Amino acid sequence: MKAIKRGMIVLVLIVVSTLVVACGQDAASENEGTSSGDSDTSLKIGLSVVDLTLERWQHDRDIFIERAEELGAEVIVQSADGDADKQLSQIENMLSQNVDVLVIIAANSDALAPIVEQAKDQGVIVVAHDRLINNAEIDAYVSFDNEGVGEMQAQYLIDRVPQGKYFLLGGEPSDHTAHMFRQGQMNILQPLIDSGDIEVIGDQWADGYSGEQALSIIENALTANNNDIDAIVAPNDSTAGGAIQALEGQSLIGEILVTGQDADLAAVQRIAEGKQSMTVYKPIKEIATTSAEVAVRLAEGEELEADVTIDNGIKEVPFVQLTPISVDKDNLLEVIVEDEFHSYEDVYKNVPEDERPAKP
Ligand code: GAL
Repeated sequence: MKAIKRGMIVLVLIVVSTLVVACGQDAASENEGTSSGDSDTSLKIGLSVVDLTLERWQHDRDIFIERAEELGAEVIVQSADGDADKQLSQIENMLSQNVDVLVIIAANSDALAPIVEQAKDQGVIVVAHDRLINNAEIDAYVSFDNEGVGEMQAQYLIDRVPQGKYFLLGGEPSDHTAHMFRQGQMNILQPLIDSGDIEVIGDQWADGYSGEQALSIIENALTANNNDIDAIVAPNDSTAGGAIQALEGQSLIGEILVTGQDADLAAVQRIAEGKQSMTVYKPIKEIATTSAEVAVRLAEGEELEADVTIDNGIKEVPFVQLTPISVDKDNLLEVIVEDEFHSYEDVYKNVPEDERPAKP
């Protein structure tokens, strides 16, 4: 686990109002393309997204573009569809289009060092968005307290099932954050595993956080254990969806606790219906807006500002670390609806009207 050092750089993000030049405001409704931005003189940002088929990243893209355009930048977006090689050639292409900044959501945290080197040779700023890029001269990392995400998931489960059989699902193995989630989960679970209160009956990782893989992993785990499982640690909502589909097949919905992360619409609907126990909401507005601001300001020659750093193997990278929030049925309305991440109608769509909480 990469060490996070606090207090190495204590600066504050300063909102430089002079940077705010309202330009095109087109919402990015397509998967890929170039946002309207400004004229030839505007700052060009390449946003390389790991996989736009996952709902999580669509939110990041839309909000990032909106904020970058407000700041006068133009954004080129591409989705690598979870393929690390495809991401490399897409980034190469962005460099040939003379982007000033690359904001990368890595498909593989260990595969990007050579392309980052090329970018740095061209004087391009590189920001790692949500997922760290290892062994590379990146300028900044903007993400959440990812170990904290894992701790929230495990804490939720042990508060309700302090003794029992746990199945551990992992995320994409080449994603650095997947390991931070696991680290956080183990911070909480290990003492109970050591005392014998919790038995880990399986540990498998789903490539690309694939819901389909999670479905078959949990189907097999249910069969192997005669359905005797008490809790499933799912790293995010796509894998939680697969796990819950497997439970549905055995009429076990609601009987086995399942965690998640991202507050995807399907997941918050499942929470409202009692099918998924919790999710971890990471305010996407905050990360996407911050990332756009960091990208523009670094390109304008400002110093980066972060209150912690993270070791990526070759340097202490300034880390803008945001705070996640644990969400279940009890605070769904307050956190998700009131933050306008999803609407009341969408969240409670599958809940009979007389069983819904009062609309705020
Ligand atoms: C992680 C990210 C999660 C989740 C997952 C699937 O890196 O932190 O929020 O979306 O990827 O792509």
